[in-house]
Amino acid sequence: MRAFQIDETDGLRCEVVEVPTPHRGDGEVLVAVQWSGVNYKDAMVAEAGSRVRRASRLIGGVDAAGVVVASDDPDLPDGTTVAVHGGVLGVARDGGFAQYVSAPRAWISPLPAGLSSHDAMAMGTAGLAAMASVLALEDRGTLDGEILVTGASGGVGSIAVSLLAARGHQAVASTGSASAAEWLRTRGASRVIGRDDVADRPDRVLGTPQWAGAIDCVGGTTLANILRSLRYGAAVAASGLVAGAELATTVYPFITRNVALLGIDVVEAPPEVRGRLWRELATTVARIDLAALVERTIGLADLAGTLDDLRAGAVRGRVLVDPAAH
Ligand SMILES: NC(=O)c1ccc[n+]([C@@H]2O[C@H](COP(=O)([O-])OP(=O)(O)OC[C@H]3O[C@@H](n4cnc5c(N)ncnc54)[C@H](OP(=O)(O)O)[C@@H]3O)[C@@H](O)[C@H]2O)c1
Repeated sequence: MRAFQIDETDGLRCEVVEVPTPHRGDGEVLVAVQWSGVNYKDAMVAEAGSRVRRASRLIGGVDAAGVVVASDDPDLPDGTTVAVHGGVLGVARDGGFAQYVSAPRAWISPLPAGLSSHDAMAMGTAGLAAMASVLALEDRGTLDGEILVTGASGGVGSIAVSLLAARGHQAVASTGSASAAEWLRTRGASRVIGRDDVADRPDRVLGTPQWAGAIDCVGGTTLANILRSLRYGAAVAASGLVAGAELATTVYPFITRNVALLGIDVVEAPPEVRGRLWRELATTVARIDLAALVERTIGLADLAGTLDDLRAGAVRGRVLVDPAAH
């Protein structure tokens, strides 16, 4: 089969190779990949000296979707449409940038009726993180007002904007890409602001209380600024670190405005949580123009260049990978 391999055994090489179809391990499920998606983590895995990757040579791709071709689980007969994601897929063992992938049962999510493998990868791990963020805020129950979404033109951000709008919430998109403003309004943003506009009253301990909630995949100073500007009782759902892993803040937002910092992880999420996320996505995407979230569809041979684009912040929305395309 054809696969996109990252090999740093002797300098870094990221290229399409011909390798044997994987052997299905004990308790594993073999999936014929129909679609994969490109995530920020894939770009981190494919970097020289990556601190995320845990193997010197592996097939990339932290998620994929397709049909089961071999399984010993009666709940996953051949032909079941599934998504494969999470654990150390594409990080410490071969991932979804290939025509076949074998993975432990716990990383396989049967897709709800009505959600195709293409829909699932139009969402992908980024969409799961966006859905988990929306649900975390809804579960807290304080979404009456403007909800800030940072990194809005990226995978997590753009899907979060669409999901919030589709579920009747007021999404304000923050982006560093001025040219993405109209695109974000079409995705459902009620207002678009710049990256720098998230900072408010830097001379004071706290900013103006303006956000009824926030979805942040940027981290660093952006997350610290959000915490200072949440309204009383509001929360920010934090899933990412594209601007940095450090968080310098004070306790004031927590002890004077009763705000919450909600951690979001979908990689290690247990099956019942994944199930809820896919079900909620299936009902919500019916109200979303999914095709418009996909910037482009590529083949394995285009991956190296696309990962460079992602690192440079030059990708808007989602990029889907068709492993059969030449
Ligand atoms: N916790 C989880 O389970 C989980 C799951 C999926 C993803 N993630 C994390 O979420 C983050 C986003 O992933 P993604 O796939 O959506 O990535 P992405 O498509 O590359 O989007 C990231 C967006 O962040 C903005 N950005 C980029 N560099 C920035 C910088 N230096 N400062 C401020 N903003 C910057 C850009 O949007 P604008 O140009 O619009 O500002 C960019 O499009 C990553 O850290 C990823 O690892 C976590």
